[in-house]
Amino acid sequence: MKPELGVCYYPEHWPEALWAEDAARMVETGISWVRIGEFAWSRMEPVPGEMQFDWLDRAIDKLGAAGLQVVLGTPTATPPRWMIEKHPDMLAVDAQGNTRNFGSRRHYCFSHSGYVEESVRIARIMGERYGRNPHVAAWQIDNEYGCHDTTISYSRSALSAFRSWLEDQYGSINALNEAWGNIFWSMEYAEFDQIDLPNLTVTEPNPAHVLAFRRFSSDQVAAYNKAQVDALRGLTDAPLLHNYMGRVLDFDHFKVGDDLDIATWDSYPIGFLSDRLEADETHKTTYLQQGDPDMQAFHHDLYRAVGRGRWWVMEQQPGPVNWAPYNPAPLPGMVRLWSLEAIAHGAEVVSYFRWRQAPFAQEQMHAGLLTPNNRPAPALVEAKQTADALSELGDIVQTQAQVAILFDYASDWAWATQPQGAGFDYFRLVFSTYRALRRAGLSVDFVSQDTLPQDRYNIIFAPGLATVDRDIERRLGESCNLAVLGPRSGAITHDFQIPEARPGLHGLNCNVDLVETLPPNIRRSVEGGGAAQHWVDRVSGSATDLLRFTDGTPVLSGDDDLWYLAGFPDDALWNRVVEMAARKTGVALYQMPEGLRRRETATHVFLINYNAQPIAWNGDVVDACDVAITEKDAPEKV
Ligand code: GAL
Repeated sequence: MKPELGVCYYPEHWPEALWAEDAARMVETGISWVRIGEFAWSRMEPVPGEMQFDWLDRAIDKLGAAGLQVVLGTPTATPPRWMIEKHPDMLAVDAQGNTRNFGSRRHYCFSHSGYVEESVRIARIMGERYGRNPHVAAWQIDNEYGCHDTTISYSRSALSAFRSWLEDQYGSINALNEAWGNIFWSMEYAEFDQIDLPNLTVTEPNPAHVLAFRRFSSDQVAAYNKAQVDALRGLTDAPLLHNYMGRVLDFDHFKVGDDLDIATWDSYPIGFLSDRLEADETHKTTYLQQGDPDMQAFHHDLYRAVGRGRWWVMEQQPGPVNWAPYNPAPLPGMVRLWSLEAIAHGAEVVSYFRWRQAPFAQEQMHAGLLTPNNRPAPALVEAKQTADALSELGDIVQTQAQVAILFDYASDWAWATQPQGAGFDYFRLVFSTYRALRRAGLSVDFVSQDTLPQDRYNIIFAPGLATVDRDIERRLGESCNLAVLGPRSGAITHDFQIPEARPGLHGLNCNVDLVETLPPNIRRSVEGGGAAQHWVDRVSGSATDLLRFTDGTPVLSGDDDLWYLAGFPDDALWNRVVEMAARKTGVALYQMPEGLRRRETATHVFLINYNAQPIAWNGDVVDACDVAITEKDAPEKV
């Protein structure tokens, strides 16, 4: 596969006289894709029912004539003002019961059937007009589901849709009462219409109620997306995609992805480091202008799974953003590094956000490839360098990794509902697993419960997998030589009850006798080095103790092909667990220096240096903020 570059462009923001020049400059930069349209509803339909597409026809023509392929967005993340007059109750409602008003974006509730119909209508009109346009080579549906906390809405529409959803799920009110344990605190219902949304209660609502609402809210996103997919499918053969976000787990991306052809995501490494990651001050200072060395790769690998192998970066940070608490500039080289790193992980396209910085409105302080007055911003040169590097690279062929992580969105909803300890967070736990594998130089795949593969992985990690029923346990066993579960894996049933056989690992004689959670400064030490933090299970049983806490109780227990990790490991403990698992399954490890990461494909090995200094490793020197790429012929030294 030959990877390509793209850019996000807003023709409606600029005089038409600039469009052809912009297109020519994009091509000169080495860009071949341009995404447009996703926020332009008020120009497509200024008055209800009066469509104005002439400007968009001309924009697509000009971009296409320059040789660019267009990704056309449906504009449903930004319903125009008249829409709110037409459907005043389409606005989402927050947990405090306040309406989320017009004046920014994503101001709609996924459960509002009138708005779903409007979205399908505009998608269909666009599909009819552009579905066979030779320049429109892909479609983006909506923009960043979940952005600005918009998956969950406590509106009247959500309430009535939730009640029907519950009736479908449980069949009878008695079954629901039983499944949720509603006898506790006399919460039993006599009919589905008595059930409210789980907000504004006196104290914590029933976790089963909250988890059901989270599942429902996720299903509403998937259904909304599918409604637009169904409108477009018959009208175009171009692939359909959506742009997901970093560390947003509010809906099941695998389910949304099932209806699409390509997964894309929006990568803002420096913004994420400052506002979306737990890390100490030293780490945040070291990587202030580079971003965290694992955060981007984590999402590249996750979205490769969501897209079943086909994925892009739809928005790549090009300079300072506007939305983090502080917005430093990338160090020279980083825009090129991020782009090549994505390509190493299999991106078909890396597309920059945005072409030219807007001089008006909310994002006027957000950099683009050009300044607002049309001069090159620093990232333009790096985009060109990336294009040059790509034209020199041969085809990059991806291959299955030896290790995988089972990722489960519903586990995040469960543990956010009842964390039990403030430091216990699903993303944080899975990310710490991922980091440990990358410190050991491993390339990592993600799998979902539904896509546990036929092909065997050597090791699959399933940290914090909330529910482990017999079916998952069997399929896990069939897809790897060694499954490493825990902490908290199998700790609840589908309806948030403690299962009879804890931790739900029927094949392993290992029972959880007690759970404790710890404040951030407390650790439980492990014999030989490392410690557990945040979460500790005290387990007993006949499974072999592989590692013990210093008080003699097991922290890692297991048999031949299934291990249970009874605590949230710190880095040192993770290193030991990864090493033991690798030794057992014959996986070769590398000791990566701080900030240097390695990605292996079938054809190339990429060394990615997030450090602000050059780094020597394994006979190579990788420059500061640079990527060293070798074609694979001779086997690497281990
Ligand atoms: C993304 C969004 C873009 C733009 C960008 C700014 O979340 O999709 O429209 O707002 O962030 O960084």
